[in-house]
Amino acid sequence: MTRWTEPAYAKINLSLDVLSRRPDGYHELRMVMQSVSLCDTVTLTLGEADRLTLSTNLGFLPVDGKNIAVAAAQAFARRTGVNLDRLAIRIDKRIPVCAGTAGGSSDGAAVLRGLNRLFETGLTARELAEIGEAVGSDVPYCVLGGTALAEGRGEVLTPLPPLEPCHLVLCKPAFAISTPELYQAIDGIRLRCRPDTAGLLRALEARDLDGAARRMFNVFEQALPPKRRAAVEEIKNTLIQHGALGACMSGSGPTVFGLFRDQDAAQEAARVLKSSYADTFLCQPV
Ligand code: C5P
Repeated sequence: MTRWTEPAYAKINLSLDVLSRRPDGYHELRMVMQSVSLCDTVTLTLGEADRLTLSTNLGFLPVDGKNIAVAAAQAFARRTGVNLDRLAIRIDKRIPVCAGTAGGSSDGAAVLRGLNRLFETGLTARELAEIGEAVGSDVPYCVLGGTALAEGRGEVLTPLPPLEPCHLVLCKPAFAISTPELYQAIDGIRLRCRPDTAGLLRALEARDLDGAARRMFNVFEQALPPKRRAAVEEIKNTLIQHGALGACMSGSGPTVFGLFRDQDAAQEAARVLKSSYADTFLCQPV
């Protein structure tokens, strides 16, 4: 085989709790993750080239080891001993960049899954996730996908019952939030509210979509600068006014998502938000 194409699905956080700061500078997390149908496409080709190359449809992205996709390929080569000199990675991006939806991590995870197929190295998903740990905190989850509880740095994964079929509207306002700065900000405040993670897990177990949507909560919203928080609140309000069962920021933001039972309501919310926010997407859980 000389070519393999892998979808790289975006993720949202149905909940995100920061429990403590660790001695290594990372934070102990408890998050409920969900992959969604919005995706990049990662194509791996073994050709005539004499070195590993990366190309994308976005000119401003790094194409060296600073790109998670290249870092993931290098980590895979270290673990398996395969030679990547003839490998060309192509990424067609649709997931917004720096959005809190794991676009980069998902590309890295797709590279790991794809290389495992291309080189027929026979690693299990868990083994690929372990390789991903060194590449980024969200990469192990992105290797597995679906609905999962992520703990520790993000790498301690427990699969959960899938979210009931529903419609999701993702909306990214046109500003970026620095993830390390947001972690720093959260270290400096006392969190007044925390997610009911146990209740969310029970709702997923009971296939209770309303109960799950009601418990969606992200502690990072409390650590946003006031102007950013107001922008996030405004999108959440629009989603709720259009019939979302719940709305929440994903990851370290700024993407906000709403969860809808009704497809027409989701379509209308997406139409309204799209007129103010170009990065608005209608998708489903996968
Ligand atoms: O692992 P990753 O490179 O994706 O993390 C980006 C940044 O997010 C880290 O440098 C750290 O500041 C922060 N982080 C954290 N605790 C985690 C995950 C990420 O503090 N569990």
